[in-house]
Amino acid sequence: MTTARRSRPPNREPADAETGSGEAERIVEVALGARTYRILVGRGLLAGLGARLAGILTRPRVLLVTEERVAAYHLPAVEHALRAAGIAVESLILPAGEETKSFAHLEDLCRDLIRRGLERSDLLLALGGGVIGDLVGFAAAILLRGIDFVQLPTTLLAQVDSSVGGKTAIDVPEGKNLVGAFHQPRLVVADSDLLRTLPRREMRAGYAEVVKYGLLGDRAFFDWLQAEGAAVIAGEAAALQQAVARSCRAKAAIVAEDEREAGKRALLNLGHTFGHALEAAVGYDGRLLHGEAVSIGMRLAFDLSARLGLCAAGEARLVREHLDRLGLPTGAGLLAESALNARQLLALMQRDKKVAAGRINFVLARAIGDAFVSGDVDPAEVEALLDDWLRAERLGL
Ligand code: NAD
Ligand code: GLY
Repeated sequence: MTTARRSRPPNREPADAETGSGEAERIVEVALGARTYRILVGRGLLAGLGARLAGILTRPRVLLVTEERVAAYHLPAVEHALRAAGIAVESLILPAGEETKSFAHLEDLCRDLIRRGLERSDLLLALGGGVIGDLVGFAAAILLRGIDFVQLPTTLLAQVDSSVGGKTAIDVPEGKNLVGAFHQPRLVVADSDLLRTLPRREMRAGYAEVVKYGLLGDRAFFDWLQAEGAAVIAGEAAALQQAVARSCRAKAAIVAEDEREAGKRALLNLGHTFGHALEAAVGYDGRLLHGEAVSIGMRLAFDLSARLGLCAAGEARLVREHLDRLGLPTGAGLLAESALNARQLLALMQRDKKVAAGRINFVLARAIGDAFVSGDVDPAEVEALLDDWLRAERLGL
């Protein structure tokens, strides 16, 4: 779902700018014609949020949606920054957690916003991780047939992936993200200060989506992450901002070429076909985070590529070693104790929404930095790979 825009940012690659603190603020543009928008990456950015919204707001009022955990850490500062700029803020605080991406919460949110006198020219601010970003983005897509929203992502995963590219959705009992819309934000402000309160495990899980960009299309970025990955996860400012900006640039380029995932955008699903099946197998109870499942999935995607003779075994080994060294999961630990077998995992993969005409689309690789999509993988090979992987864990290899 897309909407016409009132004011249009220039359609050119912008230069990095100086922030008030003297540090470089990185600017990434998502070039989508009339719906082009910017991703700002840096620190201390939310302090100047009012000025940054000036070109977007038609009246000095915003409706901010967040969740309770993020609100406890960051809402007062964001509200203060907006009010200091003369912008009235009404904040709605939802429960934290994946369960909030539901029809019930979507309905409550939409009705609450309408009762507050929402107008078509109003702006929604999504302050939170992927859960809030996806829910608020979808509400913005359907409220009054489409209103504008701005993403203020507070997790590493959201800063490098979910806040960029316009995929919005809620979950239904039949599966995750099955009800949604494409609706691009007007602006994304990725302030690395917000990540200071993020638990280390969440940083690691978000890192899986960072290294994904290196693995799928940018060997030099992967090489850089071999040296700097630990600093990114530790939240060291320079490394973190560079990783976020480079990830956003990679995603922006793909989205600009293929907004609706008719082709190239599917590369962003590297590791996700395996990952989604693992998440479904384990359940969404916090034992396996999305990024952790993607980490295992990327290892398996490279192992499958090596098994099929598409890429050198050494490449697959390098991927696994990188993930292991940074503390991301690659093994079948959580599944080893269960009775789940390779055939059942394969059946879960065949239920993924990326299946087309009954065939699973895999993102495979010829090398690190050279991924491609294939709908032509023999399911027996996948089952054999999963069988070996489960067996290795059960044998403690
Ligand atoms: P999340 O929003 O649930 O955040 C993860 C956890 O971190 C939560 O417990 C949250 O309360 C907490 N948190 C968030 N920000 C914090 C902060 N600054 N300090 C302390 N704690 C904080 O989950 P997520 O990992 O950000 O996103 C996962 C969601 O994103 C899933 O629903 C997934 O489907 C979706 N997703 C969407 C896209 C897309 O393109 N739209 C891409 C990838 C993932
Ligand atoms: N997270 C995958 C995509 O945005 O296409």
